[in-house]
Amino acid sequence: MLDLLITNARLPRSTSPTSLAIEAGRIVPLPAGREALDARERIDAAGKLLTPALVEPHIHLDAVLTVGQPRHNLSGSLFEGIAIWGERVKDLDADDVRRRVAQVLRWQVANGVLFVRSHVDVCDPRLTALRALLDVKREFADRITLQLVAFPQQGIQSFPNGEALMRQAVELGADVVGAIPHFELTREYGEQSVKFAVGLAQEFNRQVDIHCDETDDEHSRFLEVLAAETIRLNMQGRVTASHTTAMHSYNNAYAGRLIVNVRRAGLHMVTNPLDNAVLQGRFDHYPIRRGHTRIKELLAAGVNVCLGHDSVMDPWYPLGKADPLQAAFVLAHYGQMSGYEEIRTLIDMITVNGAKTLGLTDYGLEPGCRADLVLFDAPSEGDAVRLIAPRRLVIRAGTVVARTEPARQVVTWQGKEEPVDYMPARSG
Ligand code: FE2
Repeated sequence: MLDLLITNARLPRSTSPTSLAIEAGRIVPLPAGREALDARERIDAAGKLLTPALVEPHIHLDAVLTVGQPRHNLSGSLFEGIAIWGERVKDLDADDVRRRVAQVLRWQVANGVLFVRSHVDVCDPRLTALRALLDVKREFADRITLQLVAFPQQGIQSFPNGEALMRQAVELGADVVGAIPHFELTREYGEQSVKFAVGLAQEFNRQVDIHCDETDDEHSRFLEVLAAETIRLNMQGRVTASHTTAMHSYNNAYAGRLIVNVRRAGLHMVTNPLDNAVLQGRFDHYPIRRGHTRIKELLAAGVNVCLGHDSVMDPWYPLGKADPLQAAFVLAHYGQMSGYEEIRTLIDMITVNGAKTLGLTDYGLEPGCRADLVLFDAPSEGDAVRLIAPRRLVIRAGTVVARTEPARQVVTWQGKEEPVDYMPARSG
């Protein structure tokens, strides 16, 4: 007998409903014959979209829920945000980090996110945030899988003992090595920081995820260094470049050559439309650049691009509820990804593409994969994005870990109460 049978589910890029069988927490081939379909638990998906669990490849959990502390960012700019964070970070302690992070992890699970890569600021001789996040990672391991990036917010070469702190962070248990080359004091420091980060990751058999060229400065060109270093050290497939907003402003000849090398290096790319929509272009007068990486060109070249949330209610971005689908909705507009196939790609970018970036195994909808699933309250990818549809069920290893009862809306119309579900009425 099966543990769980989900019937009448619509899988991504398919039009006909299907069933999914689950045993011992894993997806198994659908048994033939009616009697073989006995299951301890059955879920009728009612023709709604069922995907693998959502993946959050880029968030800064140590800063979440600090908006307004100690003061609000009145301009909304990156630099005012950095100044405010500099004030807030002084009274960071383990309990403070733990409380805020534990709350957002619950939000993520409710949204269907079961895999998270979080950057953690390690420009702190005590490594307070990293130690707290390592505890949180262990404490909630049965609910959500966390990867932690040693992220030097103020640079590696430009911060006292930066290299030693990075090494210590990796020895403590950071899964991924970060860097922020465009923020280093000089171009040379920036190059050095990229080389140091990839080298450190190779030495400790870790992955790399670099905040790369998150600026509108077309002279910020560290992505080429990252690609070259990845090829030189044979780290293809284990290295990610996050943000890369300067690519928006590169000349087309340079960007074209760069994308070829990004593909050659097997880099994963993370785009963060929420933060970068509000933070980029701040030095522009009209026309104001979008300051966004070249998603369509990267995808067309065969590069893996996924979608991150970046911030949740912090000094840089006061909004958000840790829902990747909100970020996908914004990217549909901001990245002009409204084409029929492009909307389907948005769902890939918060599921399978993120899983590739994190290097997840056993992820997906094929037999053998762990049954980590999300059932949307929408029949298709397009409707899921359009409605930012609630997640009816979130399933981890075959067990329901979150559910949403969608609101029932009713209008009084010509003297009668009529329900509204925002779906076009079927003719006939
Ligand atoms: Fe970031």
